[in-house]
Amino acid sequence: MPAARAIEIASGFDLRALPADFYANPYPVYAHLREHEPVKRMPDGSLFLTRYDDLVAVYRDAQRFSSDKKVEFTPKYGAGSPLLAHHTTSLVFNDPPLHTRVRKLIMGALTRRAISDMEPGLVQLVDRLLDGIEAKGGGDLIEDFASAIPVEIIGNLLGVPHADRAPLRGWSLAILGALEPKLSAQQEALGNRSVEEFVLYLKGLVADRRKHPGDPEHDVLTRLIQGEAAGEQLSEAELLQNCIFILNAGHETTTNLIGNALVALQEWPQQRQALCASLKAHAGDTAATEVLMTLAVDEFLRFESSNQLGNRRALAPCDVGGVALEAGALVTLCIGAANRDPAQFADADQLLLTRENNRHLAFGFGIHQCAGLSLARLEGRIAIGRFLTRFADYRLTAPPVRGGRARFRGFLHAPFSVA
Ligand code: HEM
Repeated sequence: MPAARAIEIASGFDLRALPADFYANPYPVYAHLREHEPVKRMPDGSLFLTRYDDLVAVYRDAQRFSSDKKVEFTPKYGAGSPLLAHHTTSLVFNDPPLHTRVRKLIMGALTRRAISDMEPGLVQLVDRLLDGIEAKGGGDLIEDFASAIPVEIIGNLLGVPHADRAPLRGWSLAILGALEPKLSAQQEALGNRSVEEFVLYLKGLVADRRKHPGDPEHDVLTRLIQGEAAGEQLSEAELLQNCIFILNAGHETTTNLIGNALVALQEWPQQRQALCASLKAHAGDTAATEVLMTLAVDEFLRFESSNQLGNRRALAPCDVGGVALEAGALVTLCIGAANRDPAQFADADQLLLTRENNRHLAFGFGIHQCAGLSLARLEGRIAIGRFLTRFADYRLTAPPVRGGRARFRGFLHAPFSVA
């Protein structure tokens, strides 16, 4: 592409007015931004960052770059709205001390031991889904496989009864969908209704768990209810909204990790062939398979990051990448662009499933780094690894359908066959 056109694309970039073809492949646009306007001032005055080092600098400086979204979200959702109450109470959109208090409680139930205890159940679940796929000769990678895994894992984490899990994915998609840079009235209404329904449901679940507490070593909900120590208990609103956040955080992101990986492999036949051959050569060797799949999962996360955007607000004047930011400046951190930055990753636009030292930012970085990253990696490793071991010859039977979102990158449907 001529340099003049690349400069024009970078200078016209506006997150609120994305061209239709952006969603299929945003990476060329990210590359033009990284090269020509890495700290891009958009028409609404906010800044869009695409360089790896600039994202790390912002993530590192949590004192200067706030995650508190009250200023940003109050005009977006309207005072008193359910979406505002939810998004401004969850830990990810708060600074210490609320953030620290909630994070500590969640991390206490996501220990290495608690996560490895989940593995046998996860293997059974994945194998059951694979049996169903084999019986049908295929299906939809998203509906029948990728999305069916996190709903069970996160449902177990909070002890949501199986019979109650059906609405969880719809609520999650609607509530996280409301974080898109531009929102239709319909999306907003659906998001608000979903928060209301979710809160109502959780009130019943929490009341029941108060009467019948679970094991706080494994049950996040019991842990959140009880608090670590006297004086650390969450208020009822903090408890309910953070339960919603955990259920949502582990949902679409992990679905997209699994779905994006299995679609990407179709487009990278040599990588796919090499991974499947290595899995076959090491069949039965759990440790070797784990190493192979750990590297592969991190590369899938780098290459097609499920969560493409993060946000911060500068609390004081500062400098990012040589550009002066005023106090109050809103900053969008483009994880998808940073993870393809050639200054950090050799052959950044290549999917290389044996990539070492892959310090990608798909889980963010710093004090808000994903609390569920070990769980997400486990889910990815088991789901993708067992799928490929069983159905090395799977093929997509129709073009996959994208979710059409800038923030959460994934597919809604991907029909495939294993015959
Ligand atoms: C592939 C899957 C996942 C991806 C790509 C992902 C990505 C992220 C990112 C980028 C953040 C940081 C947000 C920020 O700094 O503003 C985050 C935070 C978080 N994630 Fe994940 N996530 C995934 C899965 C999960 C799972 C399975 C859980 C389940 C427990 C989870 C729970 C959380 C929580 C609680 C936070 C907030 C942490 C904090 O604010 O301290 N995530 N995630």
